[in-house]
Amino acid sequence: MESHSFSIFVILLISAMSAPKLIFGLTPCEFPAIFNFGDSNSDTGGLSAAFGQASPPAGETYFHTPAGRYSDGRLVIDFIAESVGLPYLSAYLDSVGSNFTHGANFATAGSTIRPQNTTLSQSGFSPFSLNVQYYQFHDFHQRSQVARTREVFQKLLPKAEDFSRALYALDIGQNDLTAGYFLNMSTDQVRAYIPDVLGQFSTIIKYIYDQGGRSFWIHNTGPVGCLPYILDRLLVRAPEVDKAGCATPYNEVAQYFNIKLKETVVQLRNQLPLAAITYVDVYSVKYSLISQATKHGFKHSLSACCGHGGKYNYNRNVGCGGKVSMHGKQILLGRSCNDPSVWINWDGVHYTEAANKWVFQQIVDGSFSDPPIPLKFACHRR
Ligand SMILES: *[C@@H]1O[C@H](CO)[C@@H](O)[C@H](O)[C@H]1NC(C)=O
Ligand SMILES: *[C@@H]1O[C@H](CO)[C@@H](O)[C@H](O)[C@H]1NC(C)=O
Ligand SMILES: *[C@@H]1O[C@H](CO)[C@@H](O)[C@H](O)[C@H]1NC(C)=O
Repeated sequence: MESHSFSIFVILLISAMSAPKLIFGLTPCEFPAIFNFGDSNSDTGGLSAAFGQASPPAGETYFHTPAGRYSDGRLVIDFIAESVGLPYLSAYLDSVGSNFTHGANFATAGSTIRPQNTTLSQSGFSPFSLNVQYYQFHDFHQRSQVARTREVFQKLLPKAEDFSRALYALDIGQNDLTAGYFLNMSTDQVRAYIPDVLGQFSTIIKYIYDQGGRSFWIHNTGPVGCLPYILDRLLVRAPEVDKAGCATPYNEVAQYFNIKLKETVVQLRNQLPLAAITYVDVYSVKYSLISQATKHGFKHSLSACCGHGGKYNYNRNVGCGGKVSMHGKQILLGRSCNDPSVWINWDGVHYTEAANKWVFQQIVDGSFSDPPIPLKFACHRR
């Protein structure tokens, strides 16, 4: 008994010594729920519920069936939920089998911060832009409490007090940048509208705060210039690549967005006195993974595991899971690779589960956060 508690004491001591300084004296947050807003980087079934399931081989590695995620398995948001002891988030839009007791996910693939003036079929951008995701959250907040008065919903919806103790996670912005480029805008034109995009982002954070949200976990945007769909479609317009093979101008725009996002977060901290806002530099994590893939145990950094040919195994017209019909038969062209665990990119746009897991492991302890506190302590304002 004694030696057992002694070793526990030693373990505690060692972990306390190796933990970042900032957490001394703080208690872990015990988030009862997560509310997530974003795009495909964190969509756990929203776009699939609204517009049809992501097709196989999506989900093959972990769920062994499509599970609404644009990946072979879990996303960073899934690892976040797991690590704070909560189940994977149900998509708000998913009316089949959902359980929102511990939160809801408003993210959909193709979402932007600013509403786009086109349809999904015209441009590929989701109609569920961040403002719409907020309307849905607002509605969910009010109506879940009315529904909870009926017994059948008590085990399906969050308690009123959980909204202020929840973690509010956001990962959105990448599609706002690509939207301009796909409309043939120049980099100067794209940079010029970033303040408007971030103004709208800031408004939504304030609205969530007014609804009781206090703990915010905000991912910056990733190195979009390292993704096959950008390399395939936009490299011709600005054929400049860095040592890692990533398209420099598009990564520079992403970095500019991130500088402005960080400034926005600083302003929000001043404006929202009770909010604990953590800014997470996902860009640096993803870029170091892609630029030093071998060192981190991966074999393929820029080409897609699941796709159909071309330099990056990405074909705009035949995506992952894409089929053609020949002589009355459906033939699968967008096939998966043999071992997704050594690929970083899944389908030309999204990351594999292995990459997502690696990214999560880098960010969970606060090493890439401002302020540098671990996820478990992200409810404490510094
Ligand atoms: C969509 O159109 C409205 C009205 O003209 C405009 O204010 C808004 O900026 C446009 N959105 C985008 C993303 O261009
Ligand atoms: C929903 O999930 C919670 C937590 O995992 C669980 O306690 C509850 O029983 C679930 N609701 C239903 C109807 O299964
Ligand atoms: C952008 O330019 C390309 C090449 O000139 C053209 O094919 C495409 O239609 C243009 N797209 C838009 C949205 O204007």
